[in-house]
Amino acid sequence: MKNTKTICFANNKGGSGKSTTCSNVGAALSVMGKRVLMLDGDMQCNLSLSFLDEDVVLEYARGNQNLYHAVREQKDIRAYIVPTPYENVDLIPSSTLMSSIEFELFSKWQREFILKKLLKSVRESGDYDYILMDAPPTLGGWVMNLLCASDYLVIPVEASPWGLFGLANMFEFLQTTQELAPGLSLLGIVVTKVDERKNYFRQTLESLETLEDIHIFESHIHVDSNVEWAQDNSKPVINYRRSCRSAREFMQLAEEILKMTE
Ligand SMILES: Nc1ncnc2c1ncn2[C@@H]1O[C@H](COP(=O)(O)OP(=O)(O)OP(=O)(O)O)[C@@H](O)[C@H]1O
Ligand SMILES: [Mg+2]
Repeated sequence: MKNTKTICFANNKGGSGKSTTCSNVGAALSVMGKRVLMLDGDMQCNLSLSFLDEDVVLEYARGNQNLYHAVREQKDIRAYIVPTPYENVDLIPSSTLMSSIEFELFSKWQREFILKKLLKSVRESGDYDYILMDAPPTLGGWVMNLLCASDYLVIPVEASPWGLFGLANMFEFLQTTQELAPGLSLLGIVVTKVDERKNYFRQTLESLETLEDIHIFESHIHVDSNVEWAQDNSKPVINYRRSCRSAREFMQLAEEILKMTE
């Protein structure tokens, strides 16, 4: 049986670059020939919007073809997978109804493991090399579900004064989750939205380097307006302009991730 690896991109700090990093690492891995399933775990639908036009995302969000319904119905999750315009990339879209996912989980048996159990059939099918999950900026039962279903966690941290605020909570949450899911490990921290005009990047790196036993990815992602233009065009920047700086950085990051997980 093929070994499907699952990676969750999470940080309780909002706007740290989770969705952008998740979508572009997925796009980069697919370009490298890996078969990738993207799982949009956030009601903001940003991961879905990274691959599909807004009207298509809205159609999935308003209908039944989304992660919320998959969790609610607990049927075979493979029925909720939709194609994207890109080779080797499929998606389970999100829905604004994900805002009440905690409520859905509440009454369920072994509620921390609902997603893990749902993804078993996908893993066993061997259809994907990687399942990448985009988490919302919260810490609760749903993010615990995402983490319990993951082999690895990647934490995107924004190079800004408030970027590190709350990271201690994230680590604490990870530790609690690992008690339930001992197979989960922190792959590393990726520094995002680096603006070289500001000195703050150095300070962020120095602070992160004081953290013991935590891998900081060598690839840092710089602020690049191509990221925003790509998102405006419903594309990962890898598929929008492969030669631009951020696309090259995401390719390097994906190579680092590939080396660490293969
Ligand atoms: N490298 C970059 N260059 C320019 N803009 C970026 C870059 N990375 C992210 N952004 C912008 O920063 C904002 C936040 O990024 P993103 O949505 O990926 O963060 P997030 O952590 O997923 O946010 P949330 O916590 O709301 O889910 C977005 O508007 C995105 O376009
Ligand atoms: Mg997001």
